Amino acid sequence: MHVTTPYPHDAPFSIDSFSGPIESMTGLPNVAYQSSEFAQFERDHVLANTWVCIANQAQLEQSKSGWLCPIDILDLPLLIVRNQDRTISVFHNVCSHRGMRLVDSSRPTNGIITCPYHGWCYKNGGELSATPHIGGEGIHQDNRFDPSLHGLKPVRSHLFAGMIFVNLSGNATDFETFIEPVTNHWHEMDFDLYPHGGSSSCWEIELQSNWKFAQENHVDGYHLPFVHPGLHSYSPLGNHYPLIVEGLASGQGSIDQAHSDALGDAQLPMNHHMSESWQNGRAEFLSVFPNIMIGVQADHFWTVHLIPITASKTIERMDLHYFEEGSTSSRYEHLRAKNRARMLEIFEEDRFVVEGMQKGRKSSAFTGGALSPEMDLPAHHFNKIAANAIISALKKLPL
Ligand code: FES
Ligand SMILES: [Fe+2]
Repeated sequence: MHVTTPYPHDAPFSIDSFSGPIESMTGLPNVAYQSSEFAQFERDHVLANTWVCIANQAQLEQSKSGWLCPIDILDLPLLIVRNQDRTISVFHNVCSHRGMRLVDSSRPTNGIITCPYHGWCYKNGGELSATPHIGGEGIHQDNRFDPSLHGLKPVRSHLFAGMIFVNLSGNATDFETFIEPVTNHWHEMDFDLYPHGGSSSCWEIELQSNWKFAQENHVDGYHLPFVHPGLHSYSPLGNHYPLIVEGLASGQGSIDQAHSDALGDAQLPMNHHMSESWQNGRAEFLSVFPNIMIGVQADHFWTVHLIPITASKTIERMDLHYFEEGSTSSRYEHLRAKNRARMLEIFEEDRFVVEGMQKGRKSSAFTGGALSPEMDLPAHHFNKIAANAIISALKKLPL
């Protein structure tokens, strides 16, 4: 079945392009990466209908009174609130009065969020608690106005492995059902046993690229010898294997992403509940549709979430979590620093290909490309998940 997008310079999306033998398949058409109209459609009809990660909880600083953190996804302003009891809520970051963007920068809150325009105040739970001068100078209530109808608009949210997810439409399946294929795949892994490594265990980079190219490159092991010679020296291509989590994720594994080779002779504490292959250096990396990557080893896991800024600009944020005392002990600080530097180096090595595809796909001569029947299985699977989500959203649009 072919579905034509209502956007400029587009190509028809066809599920047939993603469901036959891989040797006759292509990737997504250029419009899916280049068009700002398509990006808006994708935000409101694809990303909105599933669970999207908007931040890591490590971005919310520890403050007794709570913390506010504004995040925009393709210009949609959202506000994360960490309450005094450490629970997390998400709201649309807009004042119910005249539509002012409520919070402009990350900061502590004393339990009240005040709009800078006319001083309306909201509790951390979103209730409208004060409306100064609403009934005239010095009159702060008006019986023609019911404040209980004008609180902040909440967004459904969920915390998993340190990541804060939202479902903008409110209609997605519950989060546990959404993520279950991934937790089933890593049934030996207990993410709760790995605290965040702290302020030196994260980084953020800006990519001049559509967010989907970062995902497609992450699942691609094929480029290892060409783009990552250092990594390839201790984790060669032949030791990698493709991973497919049907309908939700794809990626790659390595049987010997050896800890000591990567970090020198010293070792971080390992999760001894995991089986022998993990103790011996197994590593697995998944890109979960739409916007997160997770990497798992016995001594640590990391997450990356991708914030689309425009069709051609993305913020990529990594957070590293370590097993038990490996995350906090000063004894392991140099290993955490070394691991962070190693991961940043690998992702910086990827920058030119992620940004290079964004440039290359401006070519009208490229109509989806060609795939290796052996090496491109994870990239094809990720494209298929994205295409299915796009096609099902397009079919619901009134044309
Ligand atoms: S726009 Fe916020 S108080 Fe008026
Ligand atoms: Fe890479």
